[in-house]
Amino acid sequence: MDILKKIQDHREKEEELKWEGTFAEYLELLKERPFLAQSAHSRVYNMIKNAGVDEGHDHKRYKFFDQDIYGLDEAMEKLVEEYFHPAARRLDVRKRILLLMGPVSGGKSTLVNLLKRGLEAYSHTDDGAVFAIKGCPMHEDPLHLIPHHLREDFQEEYGIRIEGSLSPLNTMRVETEYGGRIEDVLVERIFFSEDKRTGIGTFSPSDPKSQDIADLTGSIDFSTIAQYGSESDPRAYRFDGELNKANRGMMEFQEMLKCDEKFLWHLLSLTQEGNFKAGRFALISADELIIAHTNEAEYRSFIANKKNEALHSRMIVMPVPYNLKVSQEERIYEKMIRDSDISDVHIAPHTLRVAAMFTILTRLKDSKKAQVDVLKKMRLYDGEILEGFSDVDVEELKKEHSDEGMSGIDPRYVINRISSTIIKKELTSINALDVLRSLKDGLGSHASISAEDKERYLDFISLARKEYDEIAKKEVQKAFVYSYEESAVTLMDNYLDNVEAYCNKAKLRDPLTGEELNPDERLMRSIEEQIGVSENAKKAFREEILIRISAYARKGKKFDYQSHERLREAIQKKLFADLKDVVKITTSTKTPDEQQLKKINEVVATLVDEHGYNSSSANELLKYVGSLLNR
Ligand SMILES: Nc1ncnc2c1ncn2[C@@H]1O[C@H](COP(=O)(O)OP(=O)(O)OP(=O)(O)O)[C@@H](O)[C@H]1O
Ligand SMILES: [Mg+2]
Repeated sequence: MDILKKIQDHREKEEELKWEGTFAEYLELLKERPFLAQSAHSRVYNMIKNAGVDEGHDHKRYKFFDQDIYGLDEAMEKLVEEYFHPAARRLDVRKRILLLMGPVSGGKSTLVNLLKRGLEAYSHTDDGAVFAIKGCPMHEDPLHLIPHHLREDFQEEYGIRIEGSLSPLNTMRVETEYGGRIEDVLVERIFFSEDKRTGIGTFSPSDPKSQDIADLTGSIDFSTIAQYGSESDPRAYRFDGELNKANRGMMEFQEMLKCDEKFLWHLLSLTQEGNFKAGRFALISADELIIAHTNEAEYRSFIANKKNEALHSRMIVMPVPYNLKVSQEERIYEKMIRDSDISDVHIAPHTLRVAAMFTILTRLKDSKKAQVDVLKKMRLYDGEILEGFSDVDVEELKKEHSDEGMSGIDPRYVINRISSTIIKKELTSINALDVLRSLKDGLGSHASISAEDKERYLDFISLARKEYDEIAKKEVQKAFVYSYEESAVTLMDNYLDNVEAYCNKAKLRDPLTGEELNPDERLMRSIEEQIGVSENAKKAFREEILIRISAYARKGKKFDYQSHERLREAIQKKLFADLKDVVKITTSTKTPDEQQLKKINEVVATLVDEHGYNSSSANELLKYVGSLLNR
């Protein structure tokens, strides 16, 4: 479909959604769909909940955040359960400003944007529809029209509780335009849009001396005073501050803690009492979610100041830490690269993963548990199953440091290093070694890294480098084996047949000759030795495997060579050991013979076809692995 047609379709759809009627007609709507009268907080919560929730065994995952926020499931769960949900139920937290606190480039703005764009879309749906008094610059809730003394009756009839008073402007309009007949007041459906300044606002402090509170709460329109005769005529006032415009939806307060106190006091009253003061009017009711964000240092200095105590107690602080999962960090980089101007550069496989390993390592804190080094912790956090560790251990690790994820290297640094390397060197492809080198070179000029951290970070660069070496070797060796998976499975089946016979003191039958054979001790040992199973320990090792197999069988699960971490490692090492010399000679020879050349071409083709390399990154990889194997 061409774009003009799509534009037309879109316009028609928008037309269909429009609704306009009298207040009396609106009440009819409410009878059928009372949820239309929900508060701003409730709407946000429902938007998040309606996007779907995965109920894990001890955590909930809110899918709303999936598309843009990676690896922060637990922080998002906390945010929803401790703020949005209770706020939607009109509990007290709703009266506090939501302050997201997290390290630089940790996704705070991304989260706020997700909520804003989400609300815009949600207001176009049936469930998220919003109605307002027509022609009101603050898109006031029509239910404010119901006079206070009738609200109890209203609640009885409709089951809806009304909060807030009719604004001075609409009070006057009801008199002048509708002759006091509130049932005739026109109501319309509104659609949130930050661009059109409907229901979504952003306030960002500028120079504290010149900034006017008008930016938040609107101002007198001096050109109309003559017409209306007085400054206190609401028609002479422009209700166009961010707080006005964001009514019914949300307002983002950027750099809130950098802001002048007088601004903050306005917010206090708004959040606490649900209203704010503008010009010479009675308090104006507002119903909106206010989100601010800050980093830890700024927050600490804010609460250290006694003067801010009252403000502080009116905020609810929610941590937005860095992601601590390697695989999710990789996704963050992929997303950032997709959105950048380097998206056409070839990035060799594992490049972003290795960069992510480094980054995550800088964010982790040492565990008190002796058997958990930082690499293990990194793996466990990423959901890898390591022998001797259960989910419970991982939960315990997470509880050891409450401030884990609040410091370390940020994703933007990594992407900046990658892009500057690409641009400076005019590369058309980049690999893990290029990136590690560039990350390392950049540490010196990174503004917020102390000398002590720099030392640690250099260690992490070498750790990540070692991880990469292993990955690179495996990759090449796998590509050398004709059909790696198949060979691994065959070798394992063979091993298991022998182990079974050994444990049951039985014989094996040769499939060809039918001859009875003793278990092949040489074969079993050649595999077990790869992972250091000693002669004394072999019996226990073999029995343990059989037990694992029967446990799998009982649960109806298939045992394959991935099911047992150490066995898998042993099989892989055995396959590679048989191959090592071939790989070593082939990859490192300067003058390959015809045979070797053929093999190299085959391996390069496998790397390109099956593993995502291009021919130059595949050749680089081979060269690198050749040099590793010859050390
Ligand atoms: N957990 C995450 N999931 C997805 N993207 C992330 C995550 N953390 C950071 N990013 C990405 O990193 C970049 C910086 O994030 P963002 O601007 O949201 O951070 P911020 O916390 O607002 O930073 P600042 O303190 O500098 O304002 C964005 O491109 C964002 O998409
Ligand atoms: Mg930001």
